[in-house]
Amino acid sequence: MKFFIDTANLSEIQEAYDLGVLDGVTTNPSLMAKEGISGDEAVKAHYKAICNIVDDKVSAEVIATDFNGMIREGKELAKIDDKIVVKIPMIKEGVKAIKYFHSEGIRTNCTLVFSAGQALLAAKAGASYLSPFIGRLDDISFDGLELIQQIVHIYRTYDFQTEVLAASIRHTMHLIKCAEIGADVVTCPLKVITGLLNHPLTDKGLAQFLADHAKAAGK
Ligand code: E4P
Repeated sequence: MKFFIDTANLSEIQEAYDLGVLDGVTTNPSLMAKEGISGDEAVKAHYKAICNIVDDKVSAEVIATDFNGMIREGKELAKIDDKIVVKIPMIKEGVKAIKYFHSEGIRTNCTLVFSAGQALLAAKAGASYLSPFIGRLDDISFDGLELIQQIVHIYRTYDFQTEVLAASIRHTMHLIKCAEIGADVVTCPLKVITGLLNHPLTDKGLAQFLADHAKAAGK
């Protein structure tokens, strides 16, 4: 199972990378805006800075919503670095763009996925990654994890090569359940990754070990 971090914040990406468990990064226009990044050149420079931190798989999203615009932008993004995965929204023109990039050997991440039907279209078009948004489904009283389960089942049944990248993950239980279901990748904020470290019995046990060691050493 791969761990991606869902942010455009360079110090958070560095922290997750330094932990030694990071396989990639996902960004979106909202996350870039949150870091105050705007303008074509600044956006490209920021993607390059992200690529310089991690080993591979940096999702960079197109803004265009028409086929020609997505192709033009996607090609520009892919030129930034070999680590770039072009992120394309799940719309009609997006499916065509995914098909095009697949034929050109450029990796894509199909984003804003909320149904099994959309997942089928993206896989048929040759998406490298599929991003169903768990948290945003939960927000409107649909079971996001159930969708992940359904898509994993369909993809395994037909041996689709598209990897299920569970997105919009809000807490550690989302991540753990995705692991149980068999999602190929999770993308989440830093606090969800580091949240996996926490257990009160670990803290208590370590404090006891250190206290016993100090006592035995006469400190
Ligand atoms: C995924 O690629 C998206 O950037 C992200 O996971 C969306 O998460 P949110 O619903 O917390 O904004």
